[in-house]
Amino acid sequence: MKTAILGAACLIMCSNTAFAANAVRAPFGALSDGTKIEAVTLTNGAGMSAKIMTLGATLQSLAVPDKAGHKDDVVLGYDTAQEYLTRPNYFGASVGRYANRIAKGKFSLDGKGYTLVTNDGPNSLHGGPKGFDKRVWKIDAVTSGPDARAVFSYVSADGEEGFPGELKVTATYSLNEQNELKLEYKATTSKPTVLNLTNHSYFNLSGNDARDVMGNMVTLHAAKFTPVDATLIPTGERRAVAGSPFDFRTPHRVGDRIRDARDQQIRYGRGYDHNFIVDGAAGSLRPAAVVNDPVSGRTMEMSVSAPGIQFYTGNFMDGTFFGKAQRSYRQGDAICLEPGVFPDAPNHADFPTARLNPGQTYINTIVYKFSAK
Ligand code: GLA
Repeated sequence: MKTAILGAACLIMCSNTAFAANAVRAPFGALSDGTKIEAVTLTNGAGMSAKIMTLGATLQSLAVPDKAGHKDDVVLGYDTAQEYLTRPNYFGASVGRYANRIAKGKFSLDGKGYTLVTNDGPNSLHGGPKGFDKRVWKIDAVTSGPDARAVFSYVSADGEEGFPGELKVTATYSLNEQNELKLEYKATTSKPTVLNLTNHSYFNLSGNDARDVMGNMVTLHAAKFTPVDATLIPTGERRAVAGSPFDFRTPHRVGDRIRDARDQQIRYGRGYDHNFIVDGAAGSLRPAAVVNDPVSGRTMEMSVSAPGIQFYTGNFMDGTFFGKAQRSYRQGDAICLEPGVFPDAPNHADFPTARLNPGQTYINTIVYKFSAK
């Protein structure tokens, strides 16, 4: 009798083990200076897997089934770690300390001025020339279970890239059986500072970049966006999207209005490269975006805790560099949806704050949920 009960328990456990999401840590080659890179692959029983490497805590690949059950990689990137440094494009990267732009690389905090290196025309972009995407992160934990999980960490020294305070950052990726990839950035600081951490994945739901994204249907739960100047710095205005190419409150094909040059914002962005103000209260998870590829049937639904989301259509990719499997990447080959505080928030007192004080914990949570039909 006892044996039978134990046997039944084992059967239940064994079947749980078989279907539980699973996390595996393995080497991922080396940089040209010899630095070894590792990756963690999270796999679930529903056909998804996500590979995250220590360089930039970068989502290097993401396999998602289409409506026929075929698994394909739905994010742009490179086959080897060194290429992410040689031809940086923030593919899948954890971006910091300040994702997006800070005007003229200048801000002040408590009356003291700070100057950052400018690396995007007159502005500082994505944390400067050696942002978090170009740093090797540590792996703190790898756990299998109902949710497979990997925790990456990085300690940014006081003054790194011009930012004040020692910043301790973690990026936790987890994958569950409902095909939800969850990403949570957390940070603490030794001095008051500003930060904006996000993930910069380039999604192409056709899989292996079979087609560009112009035929994708996009929904953005945003009644307003923040218009920019010619250098892509917000003017400070919060403009209603109604009646403009920026109205994605109901699903629209990406390509339908992307060439509408009557709208100066489309001209400035060379298409879409704008921060949308996510409806609802920041701080708790709420729906922000839906992307659907009608051909493969794949859909990605994003929920975010951040106040804004940058919608970018790969406008700076010009076909001069090659990604995984020697694919040439061109304008409109991917959709980036980067949740965070607004660009240049340190210079806009009425934008949601980018400030973090000692004793506080910064949190930015992103959930990417995949389905296909
Ligand atoms: C963000 C910016 C774009 C571009 C990309 C990286 O999405 O808004 O302008 O810099 O990053 O190429």
